[in-house]
Amino acid sequence: MRSAAVLTACLLVWEAQALLSDSLPGGVLLKDGERFEYIVVGAGAAGAAAAARLALAGAQVLLVEAGGDPNSISEIPSAARLLRGSEMDWLYKTIPNNMSCLSSEGHQCRFSSGKCLGGSTSINYMLYTRGNRLDFDDIRVPGWSWSDLQPYFLKYEGLRDLDLLPPSSIPYHNTTGTMRIGFFNASQNPWHSRLIKAFKSLGFPDNPDVNAESQVGVTQLLGYVYGGKRMSTARGYLAREDVKKTLKVAKYTRCTGVIIDKRNIARGVTVVQGLRKIKVFARREVILSAGTIGTAQILMLSGIGPADHLQSVGICVKVNLPGVGANMTDHILPLVLALVDKGESIKDDLLRLATRAGQAAELVKSESGPFTSIGLTDVSAFLNSHCYDFERRKLLNESFDGSNCELPNLQIIHDYIDRKLVAAAKPVFMQATGFNKDIVEQISLANKEFAILVISPVLLYPYSVGHVRLDSSDPLASPAIFPNYLDDEKDVDDMVRSIRIVEQMMESSPFRKRHVRILHLDIRGCPSVDEDREGYWRCYSRHMTFPAYHATGTTRVGSVLDARLRVHGVRRLRVADLGALPRVPRANTAAVSVAIGERVAHFVLEDR
Ligand SMILES: Cc1cc2nc3c(=O)[nH]c(=O)nc-3n(C[C@H](O)[C@H](O)[C@H](O)COP(=O)(O)OP(=O)(O)OC[C@H]3O[C@@H](n4cnc5c(N)ncnc54)[C@H](O)[C@@H]3O)c2cc1C
Ligand SMILES: *[C@@H]1O[C@H](CO)[C@@H](O)[C@H](O)[C@H]1NC(C)=O
Ligand SMILES: *[C@@H]1O[C@H](CO)[C@@H](O)[C@H](O)[C@H]1NC(C)=O
Ligand SMILES: *[C@@H]1O[C@H](CO)[C@@H](O)[C@H](O)[C@H]1NC(C)=O
Ligand SMILES: *[C@@H]1O[C@H](CO)[C@@H](O)[C@H](O)[C@H]1NC(C)=O
Ligand SMILES: *[C@@H]1O[C@H](CO)[C@@H](O)[C@H](O)[C@H]1NC(C)=O
Repeated sequence: MRSAAVLTACLLVWEAQALLSDSLPGGVLLKDGERFEYIVVGAGAAGAAAAARLALAGAQVLLVEAGGDPNSISEIPSAARLLRGSEMDWLYKTIPNNMSCLSSEGHQCRFSSGKCLGGSTSINYMLYTRGNRLDFDDIRVPGWSWSDLQPYFLKYEGLRDLDLLPPSSIPYHNTTGTMRIGFFNASQNPWHSRLIKAFKSLGFPDNPDVNAESQVGVTQLLGYVYGGKRMSTARGYLAREDVKKTLKVAKYTRCTGVIIDKRNIARGVTVVQGLRKIKVFARREVILSAGTIGTAQILMLSGIGPADHLQSVGICVKVNLPGVGANMTDHILPLVLALVDKGESIKDDLLRLATRAGQAAELVKSESGPFTSIGLTDVSAFLNSHCYDFERRKLLNESFDGSNCELPNLQIIHDYIDRKLVAAAKPVFMQATGFNKDIVEQISLANKEFAILVISPVLLYPYSVGHVRLDSSDPLASPAIFPNYLDDEKDVDDMVRSIRIVEQMMESSPFRKRHVRILHLDIRGCPSVDEDREGYWRCYSRHMTFPAYHATGTTRVGSVLDARLRVHGVRRLRVADLGALPRVPRANTAAVSVAIGERVAHFVLEDR
């Protein structure tokens, strides 16, 4: 009896310590007029990195975040797709352009973005890809080439699994940085290896490391995962004891504008904390890291942006900067679904997780086990579709039109939806996808009999350009997001070409053997697939459009910002988040966002 009690007590202490060592900083209640050296707005990929680095350098820093701590489900890798539409997601709706998202309610795509410590790194798929070196060399702003940026990627990388990569990878990695990165636990799903085999049968090289010499081929991606749990920037930067000692974090605190004096010097920010509207001041600098959407919104609310637009919503113009909110590019995909495993029992673990959500805390504690895998999502293929030969059914090393085969324009991504899962989780599915009832019913019906393999080609180099505007001068209103997806017909061409590759994959032997077939949704207004294959897929792409949540460019360096991330026309104000990149890189975007956070801290400390 007694020893059992002691054992329980020991376990509790051990657990408390384990929790403590990873626990996030507590929140502070702000006083009106309070002063700091620096104020960073947004605790996401870039903001957490920037604030932590400044705090580690001994500065007095306030980090302002609209959301709170991520919940415990966020830690579970296999639950990543349950987070969209949760209280940790801004879940914006895009403004329709009648050319995309046509199967979503109101022709509005659902546009996810993290709202909690860690920002989108607390709700994303944790995939670690940096992009192609040309993504950076093409920026053509001094100090922003790949060789200028690489040190900042390396500065934070804490790769655990270097020994599993070839020796040629060594110069591209760091093993001791604060963001732990590694392979996800192996998936038990047999489609994991079948997918890889199918790509190889189509001539895709086996690429062990897309963050090294070449980006092209089929790969098993590394992830922001450590000890079987998500490695968000909240965990990697803000939970550090040395950071927690000095950094002040204001949670559930929304920034509503930058305080700019008559001489155009940023003095602080206005925020809403709870029901209190207060001002806090920065003696040295304000850094906006509220993300591609949030930062553009805050700048415009503060009178920094296109003059005509600001006037139209009744905001006094401080600095006319037409680039604010302009030139937004984002990755999109047509959601392509294949039917597999007819009538078979459950393979994936998500359904079991969904039915045992009450035990989430139990699951989180285990560092191994099925919930630490990300299913099929770490299998990915990068290619330039202009180097794919449809006659020979092979990815080649040379193109027909002179395009660079080492420069991918597609990333194929995967997921697996267990039989009956769509019906079981219909409200969540509808909210997170935004698909109309008719589409959800069709998918749900097919999913009664079959599991669904998601095989979707992401356009890595979209031509369509969108923008962000204010809907009103109310700082708590949602901004108007016009992504303008598929405005450029070339993007539809690329989608249709990429779906043809997926079709050929279905006919490869690992797939043919198992009678896999693509789900041809019956979409009102589209020709039938038998009647007009090309027309069907063009129409399908415009209906089943899905964003990858990588929007970029609304506060680009070289236009809104100078090379040191300072906002033109205002002193002591910088921007550091994904919006600073002029164009979306050919990769998932957390890695570069964190690098931009590291970068701004370096600039600020150098200029101090
Ligand atoms: C569902 C999803 C899946 C993704 N999957 C991947 C992936 O697998 N791999 C990958 O590399 N990338 C992925 N991404 C993209 C990646 O996470 C983001 O590009 C990256 O986090 C952007 O960094 P950021 O610093 O610009 O903004 P964020 O990380 O979004 O941080 C912005 C922060 O600012 C806060 N904020 C906004 N407005 C205000 C305000 N007014 N006041 C106070 N705070 C505010 C937000 O709440 C948020 O915490 C995914 C994104 C999503 C949404
Ligand atoms: C889209 O179509 C609707 C209904 O036909 C119309 O009211 C709206 O103006 C159109 N929007 C655009 C951007 O063309
Ligand atoms: C690797 O990370 C450590 C932090 O632990 C850092 O000090 C070092 O500079 C990094 N190495 C490189 C090459 O950036
Ligand atoms: C958008 O980008 C294009 C091409 O880089 C550039 O010419 C244009 O000036 C930008 N628009 C704004 C408003 O900054
Ligand atoms: C998961 O990964 C960890 C660390 O790499 C390992 O110790 C554990 O055995 C793995 N568990 C499973 C189920 O694969
Ligand atoms: C493609 O060509 C490059 C350069 O000639 C070479 O390094 C690479 O190994 C080739 N890849 C394949 C898959 O043949």
